[in-house]
Amino acid sequence: LNVVILVSGGGTNLQAIIDAVENDTITNTKIVGVISNNKNAYALERAKKHGIANCCISPKDYADRATFNQEFLEKMDELNPDLIVLAGFLVVIPPEMIAKYRNRIINIHPSLIPSFCGTGYYGLKVHEAALARGVKVVGATVHFVDEGTDTGPIILQKAVEVEEGDTPEVLQRRVMEQAEWKILPKAIDLIANGKVKVEDGRTHII
Ligand code: GRF
Repeated sequence: LNVVILVSGGGTNLQAIIDAVENDTITNTKIVGVISNNKNAYALERAKKHGIANCCISPKDYADRATFNQEFLEKMDELNPDLIVLAGFLVVIPPEMIAKYRNRIINIHPSLIPSFCGTGYYGLKVHEAALARGVKVVGATVHFVDEGTDTGPIILQKAVEVEEGDTPEVLQRRVMEQAEWKILPKAIDLIANGKVKVEDGRTHII
């Protein structure tokens, strides 16, 4: 399975995928490229350290979003991925890319969807909202990307306990360590081995 990973920040989810491919936790998979919208993203350093092709493309560098979308899709098509993985990617995916790569784009969201998801729920904001609501359990979700925000078929979820005195930063770290870095590589391995089927907007793991 040829995989392209889209990143915007520190790249700890990217690192979890790189490590899992290198130690064969993920089988039948090759990371063929890493693309970031942020040229300073540490995620790009991680790709470079592992000899993975990497590049940058940002809407800021284009006159309008339509031109960016077209360039982005052309760049993606050149890499010819079987699967596109959003690992903390903060740019809206072009609708034409979603259509062309239907059920071949997955995203990691740091909550148990449908809680704390949708526009505005990203990064620390998710954990601030969870602590404000006083939930006792949080977690992460890997889902296919469709035209909505965090609305595509759910592939895997993993729950994480909220502990007394948690700050948003502490909770975010626990969700990343105990959930994100486990279910994102797992989802890629399942897809690489033909174990995920989509039917009526829901997935079946066979
Ligand atoms: C994390 O907050 C993760 O929950 C979300 O975006 C961020 C990515 O972090 N998907 P990293 O760049 O993978 O470290």
